Amino acid sequence: VNPESKLDAQVSLTIDGKKVAASTKTTILEAARSIGIEIPTLCYHARLTPIGSCRVCVVEVDGCDAPVASCATPVNDGMVVRTESPELTRMRREAVQFLLLNHPLECPVCDKAGECELQDITYKLGVDHQDFQTEPQVWDNDNDSPLIFRSDGRCIRCGRCVAICNEVQDVGAIDFTDRGYDARIHPTNGDTLDCEFCGQCVSVCPVGALLPKTFLHRSRVWDLSENDTVCAFCGAGCSISAHTRNGKVYRVVSDCETTHNRGDLCSRGTFGFGFVEGDKRQVSARVKNDQGFSEADTASTLQEAATKFAAIAKEHGPQSVAAIGSARMTNEDAAAFSQFVRKVIGSPNLDTESGLGYRQLHNLAFGGPVGTFDDLEDCDSILVFGSDLAVEMPVPSLRIISAAKTNDARVVTAAPFKTKLHRSSRGPLVNAPGGEAALAMALTAIAIENTWLPGELDGQAISAGDPVALCARAGLSLEEVTAAAKSFFTGEHRGIVVGPYCYHNLEARNAIALLSKLTEPRVFLVSADRANMQGVGDVGCAPGEGGLEYMEIAEAISSGQIKALWVAGSDPASLFASWSSALDKLDLLIVQDPFLSRTAEGADYYLPTETWGQKAGAYTSAEGRVQMLGRFLSAPNDLLSDAEVFAAAATVLGVRLGSTAVPGSQDQTKLQAPKLDGPGVKDGSFYLVRGSSLYFNGTMTAHCAPLRTVCPAAYLALSPDKAGALKVESGAKVRVETGYGALFVEVKTDAAIPENVGVLVDPYAAPGSAAVFGTSLDWTEAAIKKAD
Ligand code: SF4
Ligand code: SF4
Ligand code: SF4
Ligand code: FES
Repeated sequence: VNPESKLDAQVSLTIDGKKVAASTKTTILEAARSIGIEIPTLCYHARLTPIGSCRVCVVEVDGCDAPVASCATPVNDGMVVRTESPELTRMRREAVQFLLLNHPLECPVCDKAGECELQDITYKLGVDHQDFQTEPQVWDNDNDSPLIFRSDGRCIRCGRCVAICNEVQDVGAIDFTDRGYDARIHPTNGDTLDCEFCGQCVSVCPVGALLPKTFLHRSRVWDLSENDTVCAFCGAGCSISAHTRNGKVYRVVSDCETTHNRGDLCSRGTFGFGFVEGDKRQVSARVKNDQGFSEADTASTLQEAATKFAAIAKEHGPQSVAAIGSARMTNEDAAAFSQFVRKVIGSPNLDTESGLGYRQLHNLAFGGPVGTFDDLEDCDSILVFGSDLAVEMPVPSLRIISAAKTNDARVVTAAPFKTKLHRSSRGPLVNAPGGEAALAMALTAIAIENTWLPGELDGQAISAGDPVALCARAGLSLEEVTAAAKSFFTGEHRGIVVGPYCYHNLEARNAIALLSKLTEPRVFLVSADRANMQGVGDVGCAPGEGGLEYMEIAEAISSGQIKALWVAGSDPASLFASWSSALDKLDLLIVQDPFLSRTAEGADYYLPTETWGQKAGAYTSAEGRVQMLGRFLSAPNDLLSDAEVFAAAATVLGVRLGSTAVPGSQDQTKLQAPKLDGPGVKDGSFYLVRGSSLYFNGTMTAHCAPLRTVCPAAYLALSPDKAGALKVESGAKVRVETGYGALFVEVKTDAAIPENVGVLVDPYAAPGSAAVFGTSLDWTEAAIKKAD
């Protein structure tokens, strides 16, 4: 509401004698707040639809027999409201007295003390005695669930946790059980929580009934310092506040009113910060010798490493050296790396994980993100293609859930298995592994045939191919693809989000870029499972003219063209078999990383570096939002940031790094309709697909003990039918063999997985799991049998 403007105001009312104009969708509480009148609340939360359970927000309305809950009562034209009276004060005090009737006197040991809304309202309303008596109740605490502590006794049954888990998170892991006086919150599935562990319920609980176990009994809240920063994990770039004391992070929270992510976080954002203090953090440089590694001082290690790297480039030419950075470097780190490799050394061979298709797809389509995560909420139809978005970028996926729930947006999803967003989808497509290019072309062909899309682009007629053959190749029926196409293309405001199952593949990138250009979407975003996929490319940490891309660098190492490699923060040996076998062929491997990663274990020179929290800089999110990271922790042993390492390495070579970024060379790849003439998937074959986990994305999460408690080991998700056919149940081991290697892994049955697919989720990238995929990024044919 806006008392000044009547632009969207349909009604006028009076609150405490003041006139206010408001839309009919407004509640009395919102209208009052818009003109500075505060009404006390307890169960109300700005992120949720009104619950109306506590009755603390009651107000008097002329013509109503009894006071009404202002948080849940919409405004009416001519309404006259009073927010203060002796009777209202009595009712509010009584409501709080009822809540305190059985509330344990645990404030001295409750971690919520100091920020407890029940404490605050008790004080504010002057509730200094108890008028009521009841039989004391005995409640249980749940300390067995991973990551979240639950106390029935402290719970005031406000219902916020149930609402956020259902409405926003679309999980429904908790609900009320029993009724009336005995009502309590309980997991919907068993006695302990088995859920996403996003922590959203914790963030809205007004009391200490839900608390992060990572914070339990560790600090009083008033002793913590708040540090604004950005989440370190995915390209959603959630704004967070890291709460610290004595140089340690105690918890991470996000404010619902001031952050672009509206206070929403996922499990990685809430619980993943522990990697900063991971016990495997390295503080000393190391140099390889005959006995393995020996510790060395940073300056001499840097001096030797930089000198040898430059010498190889000089002797064999700049094409003989290459560099791999991390898409979690800050923009400043990435710009310095780019200057060092491309200007000081003169090599164009530089890339990051952004070069596995994220950057190339943007180059083919619109040159960068179009629209924002919030804009997704306003789309009539949304295509989520080749993506498990709720795992890759969990918080933006909530905008799509909201679009489907509140705006009736038609969501169409496509992935090699059913993802969480398939539940919100009107066109849930489960395509064959590797069927993304054919599916995108089938959607395009059907849309052109039905005139939902124009049949030409830039004056060139588009021949998308035969929809029947394309659908068959994608492993889907013409009917289901046509229904999905109709749902999506007939929307007026269309949003497209493309994920790695699509953009990792050249044909699929071309196909989805073509579909997207023809669609002219209001939103076009590429899912970034690493925090700065966008920024590293923007500042030129990408191949220069004639330079090699990420996977090409591995091939060039194998062929002997590249003799020296500098790796910063990336761990390609853990991710890709082709990389782990290639690294042994190098004459020189230099690795800088906060941890001794698998890649670092093979390094000739290893330099530990600062992490998130210990260095300043900026990330650019997948929607193009540039945000500053806070520097609130001091690094041990005078560690350097990545940018400082490159500046020092340049100084060794007699060059001073400038402050301007080196722009990435213009990608020469031209958009063209893909030719799909190779073999598609075979009937009767079984396919192994690389999956990802909410509790893991990269080395940093692997060093976070709390997240490991939820997902401690690799598993293979199999359909119940496939598991039945193999005579295995969840927990049993199977042997999976591909053309590249074999792996023993535990099974988890999951009805979301098609029968001819097994999804390998390997949080800690065991050596065997990279090996079984060989040169493939996402899937490969496999044989599976019960382990003896
Ligand atoms: S942690 Fe998230 S998924 Fe689990 S109960 Fe809370 S809101 Fe629901
Ligand atoms: S656990 Fe917290 S949020 Fe949930 S009903 Fe109880 S007091 Fe409310
Ligand atoms: S969605 Fe991404 S940025 Fe946001 S909290 Fe989760 S991992 Fe962090
Ligand atoms: S705040 Fe309105 S009923 Fe609880």
